[in-house]
Amino acid sequence: MHPMVRIVDLDALGRNIQRIRSRIPEGTGLMAVVKADAYGHGSIPCARRVLREGASALCVATIEEGLELRRAGLTPMILVLGVSHGRDVLRAGAEAGLTLTVCDPDHVLEIRHAAEGLDGPVSVHLKLDTGMNRLGVSSPEARDCVVHAIQETQGLVLLKGAYSHFADADGPSIHSSMDQLDLFRKLLRGLPAGILRHIANSAAIERLMPEAAFDMVRAGISMYGYSPTGLEQHLEMVMTWETEITFIKDLPAGARIGYGLTCTLSRSATVATVRCGYGDGYHRLSGEHAHVLVKGKKCPVLGRICMDQMMVDVTGLNVRAGERVILMGAESGEKIDAQDLADWACTIPYEVLLSATGRVPRVWKGKE
Ligand SMILES: Cc1ncc(COP(=O)(O)O)c(C=O)c1O
Repeated sequence: MHPMVRIVDLDALGRNIQRIRSRIPEGTGLMAVVKADAYGHGSIPCARRVLREGASALCVATIEEGLELRRAGLTPMILVLGVSHGRDVLRAGAEAGLTLTVCDPDHVLEIRHAAEGLDGPVSVHLKLDTGMNRLGVSSPEARDCVVHAIQETQGLVLLKGAYSHFADADGPSIHSSMDQLDLFRKLLRGLPAGILRHIANSAAIERLMPEAAFDMVRAGISMYGYSPTGLEQHLEMVMTWETEITFIKDLPAGARIGYGLTCTLSRSATVATVRCGYGDGYHRLSGEHAHVLVKGKKCPVLGRICMDQMMVDVTGLNVRAGERVILMGAESGEKIDAQDLADWACTIPYEVLLSATGRVPRVWKGKE
């Protein structure tokens, strides 16, 4: 086993998928969001597992991410949520049968030119902007311009779906989401029948079913074990993160610890140096509040997080160098998850899951 490692539990992922599926109305498909390397969990093994659990499509952010899944032999619909430009990348996406997002007539033309001479048409989903102001068309006129441009391609580009994205489905009020839903319905009305319609993310799956179900939902963070609304209590964290104690010393009251000497011991303590720092992606900002698990006990981090190491109070635990330390995970009824790490570092679990750097190896357990 590696001294420091992130462990991805594919069986926990599978159980989360079943919990999410139980919230979705019969007949609504589940698209699994595996962008950004499946939020740091490994897009290929995660995609394989979620498809076995009944997800019917995958979402990625870029054509390059979609190509990686195709190269791994994954054949379902893959929707690219972002917009890419440039002939070579668009042609590669079209050849690989990726479903592209469009929201601009010029982009439709660009895709059409990139796809000239290919065997089949390029499938696209039209992005409707219902309030996030990120990507998409937000008026019936702009929508009709894109649809017209698609029709002008004479079958080279095919409109297969239309979708939007909630800006605040996990916020304190559902009002803005309800307004987004109204605009979504209005914009859908002018589109051809039979296309796939989708808007719900994890928060909307937990909070806005069945109104926001449509034909498909797009689940991301909840698959990986985090409920954005707090309404789903039974999700399991999929990724854990472990390391080891490298050195131990007893220090007297008054000893000062770490860069800037920001921590002064109020009593004598046994202090362990732990292999992990911001060079591994452990947020330096967490320092003042952070805890780790040693022998199933929550132990406070002392002083600032260094690049490669941190110091931890292990007084009374009778531990030795080499002892396992859980940075994120559960032991003996205690738990530290990405939400805790995010709270300590003033960020969100999404960023924590993605923050480990290349020098932290990842292993997968459970079936793909
Ligand atoms: C367009 C789109 N759909 C769905 C998702 C999944 O969101 P969540 O992880 O909150 O379920 C994202 C995530 O950023 C997204 O950008």
